Amino acid sequence: MLGFLVALHLAPEWELENIVVAPSARRRGVGRQLMDALLSAARETDSDSVFLEVRESNVAARSLYEKAGFEQEGRRKSYYTNPMEDAVLYRLSLA
Ligand SMILES: CC(C)(COP(=O)(O)OP(=O)(O)OC[C@H]1O[C@@H](n2cnc3c(N)ncnc32)[C@H](O)[C@@H]1OP(=O)(O)O)[C@@H](O)C(=O)NCCC(=O)NCCS
Repeated sequence: MLGFLVALHLAPEWELENIVVAPSARRRGVGRQLMDALLSAARETDSDSVFLEVRESNVAARSLYEKAGFEQEGRRKSYYTNPMEDAVLYRLSLA
């Protein structure tokens, strides 16, 4: 297995729960393909938006999300622990 994506569909919205690519398979477009599959599913279900949250320091994931069209919508202060860090909230509008 090269990677997986978990998402929750609560019509008319989707929420990305997790996306992981095996370390040995990173930077080869697998993450982008997984994201494309989620966005296709979201469009096929006539959805409004896709939401997600990510650690502020997660440069790789944030770059993937921003290239897919997600826009920053807010943050949850000190949301993560070990280490403590803000969550950055993103939304992609499909409307
Ligand atoms: C985030 C993750 C899923 C990306 O998967 P990937 O298969 O390596 O990503 P891709 O090869 O499809 O890259 C797509 C874009 O993501 C960004 N990206 C990926 N890895 C990056 C890195 N190490 N540094 C900076 N940007 C990165 C780039 O913008 C890249 O586009 P480019 O290749 O044109 O530069 C992967 O790094 C991962 O599994 N990380 C650990 C788990 C995690 O943090 N998941 C997110 C939880 S919210």
